[in-house]
This record gives sequence, C-alpha cells and structure tokens, in this order.
Amino acid sequence: MAASPGKGSISPIRCGGCSEGVLSGEQQQRRVLFGRRRGRPLRPERRRLKAELLPRLAVTLPACGPLVPQALFAGAPRPIWLEIGFGGGEHLAFQAAQHPEIGFIGCEVFENGIARLIAQIARQGLDNIRIFSDDARLLIASLPPCSIDRVFILFPDPWPKRRHWKRRLITRENLDRLAAAMTDRAELRLATDDRGYLVWMLQHLSEHPDFEWLARRPCDWRERPPDWPMTRYEEKARAAGRTPVFLRAERRPRSG
Ligand SMILES: C[S@@+](CC[C@H](N)C(=O)[O-])C[C@H]1O[C@@H](n2cnc3c(N)ncnc32)[C@H](O)[C@@H]1O
Repeated sequence: MAASPGKGSISPIRCGGCSEGVLSGEQQQRRVLFGRRRGRPLRPERRRLKAELLPRLAVTLPACGPLVPQALFAGAPRPIWLEIGFGGGEHLAFQAAQHPEIGFIGCEVFENGIARLIAQIARQGLDNIRIFSDDARLLIASLPPCSIDRVFILFPDPWPKRRHWKRRLITRENLDRLAAAMTDRAELRLATDDRGYLVWMLQHLSEHPDFEWLARRPCDWRERPPDWPMTRYEEKARAAGRTPVFLRAERRPRSG
C-alpha cells in the first residue's frame, strides 16, 4: 500500500489563486488544499533561481474568464500538454526536452518540487514550460474548451482512508472539466501504486462517457511506455516493493 502523502505534515491550507469568475460560490468554499506546501528550506542557489525565473514562468489565472493557454507561449499556436502534481518535475522536464514544439503547463503546490523543476529548466535551457504553483483544481476550472492536447496525472496522492476520498484529484467533477478542456482524441495518462486508487481510477474512467481506457493487453498497464520516464515517486514506490500501474485513456471525439 502506498504511504499517505507528506506523513505528519498534512494540513488544510487555504489556497490563493484568482479564478473567482470561473468557480461557483460552493467551489470557492471548497478551495481547501490538503497537502504540503513546503519541505526543507530551499538551498540558496535554488532559492535564487526560483526568485529569478518563476515570475517569468508563472501562470496567473485571469480575474474573470478562462485562461488562454496559447497566450503563455510566444510564436505560432502549438499543442498544449498539462502535468498535474509534477512533484520534482523530472517527467515534465523530460517531455519538454523531447518535444520543443509543445507548450507545457506544469502544476504543483510543493515549493521544493517547483524549485527543483526550475533548476532543471535553467540547466537544460528549456523555454516551453510554464508553471502554475497553486491548486490544480483552480487551473482545471479555468481552462477553455478544447485547449489541452495531453494530460498527465502521475501518482496523485492516493488518500487511502475512506474519509479522505473526497480529497482525491480523480473525481467525476475534475474528469468532466478535463474532458471539456481536452481536444478530441487527447490522451490522459494516469499512474498509481495504490490498489484502492487504481480501482477508483478505473471505475471513474469507465463510467465517464468522454473517456476510453486504451489498454488491450496486460502489458499496456503493467509496463510504462518508453516515452514515459520513471518519476521520483515511482522510484520510491518500487524501492518499497509496490507495483505501479500505468493507465492511458483517450478523450472520445465529440459527435457532430
Ligand atoms: C505523490 S506525489 C507524485 C509526484 C510526481 N507526479 C511523481 O510521480 O513523482 C503527488 C504530488 O501532487 C501534488 N499535488 C497534490 N494535490 C495537488 C493539487 N491540488 N494541485 C497541485 N498539485 C497537487 C503534491 O504536492 C505532490 O507533489
């Protein structure tokens, strides 16, 4: 079984963000984020890089109306891929280096992970990543229709206790919003090492009319595709003897 995220340091945190024009009153009230914002103090070099680069990379939600992802990147319109909860950012940096023609939006609330990604961006000279450093649900709610071409949610916190299930990122509501934001045949990639969350993910995917799970054979979920590098969380899960599962689903084409 997967460990609870950030053991001993979880606390509800009121989120910032500014998509008041997009979320309903009820959703605004539910803007409580369960997770760690900070770990150890950042090393001076990471702190300096974050202070210097984050203002240029940061995604700020408009006060009203949807975000325009294309406007985050200079030049001709490009496909946009989104990673939610990128952790240390190694998967995101890998994808961005492999696909310079894609615009990437990474979303993460943990300061140390954000600083780690920024260090990779600086080291590799990546110019196609933008960072939303607040609750993913705010970002998802402010995406315009048909604006996102691929979504990664890799090893989201499993919240194994029943009373915490409402904190899970994979919910019908979030899938509805992602389905609206995703283009036809856009891919949704999920991973988990928690059996309970796996069952939950498969149930939510199979019940959702807009998503189709792409697996045909056991190796399709047992083996990580070659264009999907191992994340830090997966490494830890394997070291602890847990077996990860990799899910690829497609956003069904809209009819008409
Ligand atoms: C278990 S970790 C996995 C990290 C990374 N995907 C990996 O595989 O190494 C889950 C991550 O999701 C982030 N997270 C949890 N809830 C979030 C939310 N509502 N918005 C943005 N990030 C969130 C956490 O801070 C954490 O870094």
